[in-house]
Amino acid sequence: MKVDGVAYRSIWRDPSETTVTVIDQTLLPHRFQTLPISNVADAIDAIKRMVVRGAPLIGVTGAYGYAMAMRDDPSDANCDAAFDAINAARPTAVNLRWALERVRDEVRKHPPAGRAAAAYAAADRLHAEDIETNGTIAANGARLIREIWEANGRSRPVNVLTHCNTGWIACVDWGTALGAIYRAHDDGIPVHVWVDETRPRNQGASLTTWELGAHGVPHTLVVDNAGGHLMQHGQVDICLVGADRVTASGDACNKIGTYLKALAAKDNDVPFYVVLPGSTIDWRIEDGVTGIEIEERAGDEVTHISGIAGDGSIVKVRLTPKGTRAGNPAFDVTPARLVTGLVTERGVAPASRDGLRKLYPERG
Ligand code: MRU
Repeated sequence: MKVDGVAYRSIWRDPSETTVTVIDQTLLPHRFQTLPISNVADAIDAIKRMVVRGAPLIGVTGAYGYAMAMRDDPSDANCDAAFDAINAARPTAVNLRWALERVRDEVRKHPPAGRAAAAYAAADRLHAEDIETNGTIAANGARLIREIWEANGRSRPVNVLTHCNTGWIACVDWGTALGAIYRAHDDGIPVHVWVDETRPRNQGASLTTWELGAHGVPHTLVVDNAGGHLMQHGQVDICLVGADRVTASGDACNKIGTYLKALAAKDNDVPFYVVLPGSTIDWRIEDGVTGIEIEERAGDEVTHISGIAGDGSIVKVRLTPKGTRAGNPAFDVTPARLVTGLVTERGVAPASRDGLRKLYPERG
């Protein structure tokens, strides 16, 4: 995708270098600044501080971090130690573990001297695959938007509600739910997006609006609590959200607040689709509510908010009385019964064990 006319990916590597560069997402939309990741500690820090975020991008960043760990210490002990350290950086998005397993499996085929090269090659493959996978997901998701447009006699834009940020900066390129919207827009389907602000970190307000604006997709920012009202009044044709982990039976864990949108969608007969790559499916877990670890983040993300001041500086201000205790679960689980369908690179499936097995028969 382009930023001020220049094509970017959310993470990239000059093949002659062993470092990677990312966009510092903590500064968007106010400042576009890139940041080098030079070693495994940098990679862990970038994931923890959400310089990089979004399940697929966390996975690819973790893979490069692992390659840097192998460059610096390719010992047997570090194959596992680096894996554990990176995997612990954020607990909920399963793409991180998936990507680390892919790279570690490659690395283990080699003696120490060959491990760094094998790890970089594997991480580069994940980077390329992410772009291809998301391009296919976007096409599959755009078909759903087209169907609604056709069903309405092509008479008006399709109103999509989305939560958090699932765009190209959450992946390597394209995005998942937002990728489907980009593809529909690029195909000439008129789309309007309701963007949930997504408290507490405001990925919708800060990142999704930035992306949609840059791509020319009409959108309106709403507070997180507006979705139910909009659905009751016929102003939402379809909800498209991403996921950080989907269980083998189709429960979908995504940014906190997603579950409430799914409940409102069910009550108002609005189709609710979760858009994800296969790497987001955790085949080991059936029940998402009891089986998925929900990241608890620092309370100051709730008690404080950051934005741009009149003098152009980025400032953080307190919203609450000093010392207010805040809880901050970062994700929630939408049970499969509330999900109309799962949109993947292999097509659209019902959110169920059977639906997923049909798309991924190799999983038995
Ligand atoms: O905490 P974040 O910003 O990493 O959470 C991101 C989300 O919840 C996204 O919806 C999800 O990762 C899917 S992104 C393609």
